[in-house]
Amino acid sequence: MKEVLAFIEEQKQEYTKLPLFQFLDDKTIDPRQRLGFAPCIAHFIMSFGDLNKYVFREKEAVTKAQQIINEHTFEDDHHWPWFITDLEKLGFNQSMTFTQVLRFLWSEQTKVSRLLSYYLSAYTLQADPLMKIIVIEAIEATGNVLFSKTAKIASELTAVTQQDYIYFGEFHFNLETGHAMGEHEGEKYLEQIKLTDVQRQEAYDLVKKIFSIFTDWTNELLAYAQKQIIEEENSKVANSTLVHCGKH
Ligand SMILES: [Fe+2]
Repeated sequence: MKEVLAFIEEQKQEYTKLPLFQFLDDKTIDPRQRLGFAPCIAHFIMSFGDLNKYVFREKEAVTKAQQIINEHTFEDDHHWPWFITDLEKLGFNQSMTFTQVLRFLWSEQTKVSRLLSYYLSAYTLQADPLMKIIVIEAIEATGNVLFSKTAKIASELTAVTQQDYIYFGEFHFNLETGHAMGEHEGEKYLEQIKLTDVQRQEAYDLVKKIFSIFTDWTNELLAYAQKQIIEEENSKVANSTLVHCGKH
């Protein structure tokens, strides 16, 4: 298992280099605009609670690996309410009708956010707990990259607004250790597991698939966030044209 964990770490380093993360680091862009992808991830963030409760967790954990997974799911199944309050604090809670919300959540521009849940379910539902742990480790690695960036943006915003952002900020980042099991003992347990050749190959394939879908996701988020900036600029231009026209 050690080599699979090392492979996840390698993939994580590559993941960090993606354009979304350069965008999130770009202090010339307004912090609220850098977090402008937030509405786009709603379907996945809300579904992630369900994945933990109903897909990763098993009623009876008969193996040590599944026990570790179950414990982890109790930590990760209730983060979505923080996401909702952050959306409100960030001003992304504009009034929409119910059907407008449905159309947005199931639109083409938020497609990968939905696919993520479906793919992750396919890889984990009733899977060997060892493969599930590998999937969770890879997910955690991607989350660790994203939250390390958003936590910095959130603290920039806090300095201006005096508001705390629980989901995007330090609080959540500090909870997300980047691993499936928080405690040292769990990490050691994983490292000493010997995988068969077949299991190892399956594990590598899964890790590649996870990083591939999360990479597509980051591209979707970047496209969405950039589109918001353009629309905001267009509306500024439109407003100033209106003011200008009104004067004459
Ligand atoms: Fe979380």
